[in-house]
Amino acid sequence: MSEQQALRERAVEILRGNDRGGYTIPTAGLYPFQWNWDAGLTALGWARIDEPRAWREMSRLFEGLWDDGLLPHIVFHVPSESYFPGPEFWGAPHQRPPTSGISQPPVSATVVRLLLDSARDRDGAEANAAALYPQLLRHHRWWHRARDPGRTGLVVSYHPWETGRDNHPAWDAPLAAVPPTTTAYPRRDLQHVDGSQRPRQSDYDRYIYLVELFRSLDYAPDKLHARSPFQVLDVGINAILARADRDLRALAGRFGTAAEQAEIDAWTQGAQAAFERLWDGTIYQSHDLRAERRLAVPGSAGFLPLYAGLCDRERATALARLARRWGEQLRYRVPSTAPDHPDFEPRRYWRGPVWAIVNWMVADGFARCGEQATAECIKADTAALLANTGFYEYFDPQSGAGYGGGAFSWTAAMGLHWALN
Ligand code: DGY
Repeated sequence: MSEQQALRERAVEILRGNDRGGYTIPTAGLYPFQWNWDAGLTALGWARIDEPRAWREMSRLFEGLWDDGLLPHIVFHVPSESYFPGPEFWGAPHQRPPTSGISQPPVSATVVRLLLDSARDRDGAEANAAALYPQLLRHHRWWHRARDPGRTGLVVSYHPWETGRDNHPAWDAPLAAVPPTTTAYPRRDLQHVDGSQRPRQSDYDRYIYLVELFRSLDYAPDKLHARSPFQVLDVGINAILARADRDLRALAGRFGTAAEQAEIDAWTQGAQAAFERLWDGTIYQSHDLRAERRLAVPGSAGFLPLYAGLCDRERATALARLARRWGEQLRYRVPSTAPDHPDFEPRRYWRGPVWAIVNWMVADGFARCGEQATAECIKADTAALLANTGFYEYFDPQSGAGYGGGAFSWTAAMGLHWALN
């Protein structure tokens, strides 16, 4: 067996080991439930070995879809004591199954389109995609309505957990405006992973405050909009949504009505213009809506507008130059925070480490926008990390050491779907 084949076998073992019956936990202990963007990206790995299982991952995730279209960031299919905060603390209205009360980067429509386009079982894929399409549309309508009430073309996030990049340094300033919780609570994550690789206590105290606030407001979108002290236009969520809108549009062409197609087209047109607000001349950056200022901490998410197809050739070339410059300072790309930024920390979660899922999106974006060579370098860096270190949650961009959870589902899935192909 070649080394590549052995690695792929290991990735398959990880998915099977994390399978809990139609849904996949990200990693045992640290994350014992189904997470939203983990599920979607993990389904891409399942598709390489078991197409029905990939579709099942998506339908199990959508069991958590709220009546108003929110797709929660966690679906608590079965109880577990190894994670906090659990379903009681969230106190969210959706009860069968219980869920959290915020969302996560909306990769689902993109995943469904990729599963459909690559399916060997065409009939099965058509039936599954047709069943999911109305739910995807409901979810996208939620983003564009509940999280962009002013119809600006960009959606707002009220919680760092919602962005998926929980402790990225860009959130330090807006999070400073959030009071810490006064409730005592357990840091269960620290029973599984060393504290030097996780968010700081001061961050967690504010994550928990926000959950308590949202719970007290019954998760009503208009109340969150009026009351949340944390309000950011995250470049990551917005780029992932813009890409997913295009993929949803392709699905609408097959399963939707002309009115739905026009509705989605309007979202895409709105995003195209609005993204200029996030371009700083070098890279795309998130924006603090409360303080009305740019959150100037360059990182891997700043390349994601490429993945959304929002960049012309000139801009893609400029971004490829920047990625090359970062590569000269590091062994492995793409770091979650720029290596020359004072807040870069190579081991701490989203403050520096490389993540295989973001690498896939960034490489897909460079390839899509004509920068094939950069895409190939990022793929080679990712394959080297998996081969040299294993399927960790995230990696040190300097040493390649693996951190966070081990035997991690979406890292294994990215190996199967992309890096080890
Ligand atoms: C965690 O608990 O670390 C997650 O990122 C929140 O969903």
